[in-house]
Amino acid sequence: MDPRLQRRVQRYGWDRAAGDYESGWRDQLKPAQSLMLEMAALRPGERVLDVACGTGLVSFRALDAVGETGSVVGTDISAEMVETARRRAEEDGYRNATFERFDAEAMDLEDGSFDAAVCALGLMYCPDPINALAEMRRLLKRGGRAAAAVWGARAGCGWADIFPIVDARVSSEVCPLFFRLGTKDSLARAFTEAGFVDVRFERIRVELAYASADEALTAAFQGGPVALAYSRFDGPTRVLARAEYLQSIEGYRDGAGYRIPGEFVTALGFRSEH
Ligand SMILES: C[S@@+](CC[C@H](N)C(=O)[O-])C[C@H]1O[C@@H](n2cnc3c(N)ncnc32)[C@H](O)[C@@H]1O
Repeated sequence: MDPRLQRRVQRYGWDRAAGDYESGWRDQLKPAQSLMLEMAALRPGERVLDVACGTGLVSFRALDAVGETGSVVGTDISAEMVETARRRAEEDGYRNATFERFDAEAMDLEDGSFDAAVCALGLMYCPDPINALAEMRRLLKRGGRAAAAVWGARAGCGWADIFPIVDARVSSEVCPLFFRLGTKDSLARAFTEAGFVDVRFERIRVELAYASADEALTAAFQGGPVALAYSRFDGPTRVLARAEYLQSIEGYRDGAGYRIPGEFVTALGFRSEH
C-alpha cells in the first residue's frame, strides 16, 4: 500500500475511534501494556517517549513510574487521540506530560534526548515499522532502551476475522500486514534491524473479556482500526457485518458475554553505549 495512504487511513481512522477506544480496549490491552512497561523498567526522574500513545493509557502509567522529577512525551498520528490525551493530562493535573501529533517515523524531537521509549500496539500500523524503531533509537540517549508491544500471530487472535469481514464490503486498507510483527521472532528481528542491541522478546496469551455482544461489537467496529471503513457502511451493511462478526466469535461466547483469545508479543532493546 502507498505509505501516504496508509498514514491517512490511520490518522483519520483513529480520529473516529478515539471516543470508543478506551471502553473497548483499556482492560483488554492492559496485560500487554503491563508486560511492556515491566520490560522497560522505568525509574524515577527519567524522560520517556511514548510512541503511538493514543489516549495516553501507557503515557500516564509511565508518568506514575517516573514521578514528579521525570517526564513523558506522547506522540501519535491522530489529532483526536493527542487532544484526548492532552485533556486528560490537564484534568488530572499532570504537568510533566506533553503530547504532540507526529508520525512515528518522523518525530520532530532532539537526538539522544530520552532515557527510554515505549510503543504499545502501534508499530503494526506504521508503513515501515523498522523505520519507526530506528526513529525511537535516534531519540534515545546512548545506553537507553526501547520496549514495544504488538498483537501476536493471527491464529492466536480470535477477533481477527474483523479484517476480512470489513474488507469484503469496502476496501479498508487498514493494514495489509497487521500480524507480520506478531509471528515467531519478527518483532525482535525488527529491533535488531533498527540497530538495537541485547534484544529479547516475550509472547503472552490472554482472554479479551466483553460483558455483552454490544460491547464486543463496539470495540471491534467503532473503537479500533476499522472504524473509518465501518463509518462508510450503510445501515443494512452494518447489520450484516455485525452479525457475521458475532458468528466468527460465537465459539468464545461465555453467557451473555465473550472471552476471546488474544496474543501479544513484547520486546526490549538497547541503544548501544558506543
Ligand atoms: C491501538 S492504538 C494504541 C494506543 C496506545 N499506545 C495504547 O496502548 O493504548 C494505536 C495507535 O497508533 C496510532 N498510529 C497509527 N499509525 C501511526 C503512525 N504512523 N504514527 C504514529 N501513530 C500511529 C493511532 O493513531 C492509534 O492511536
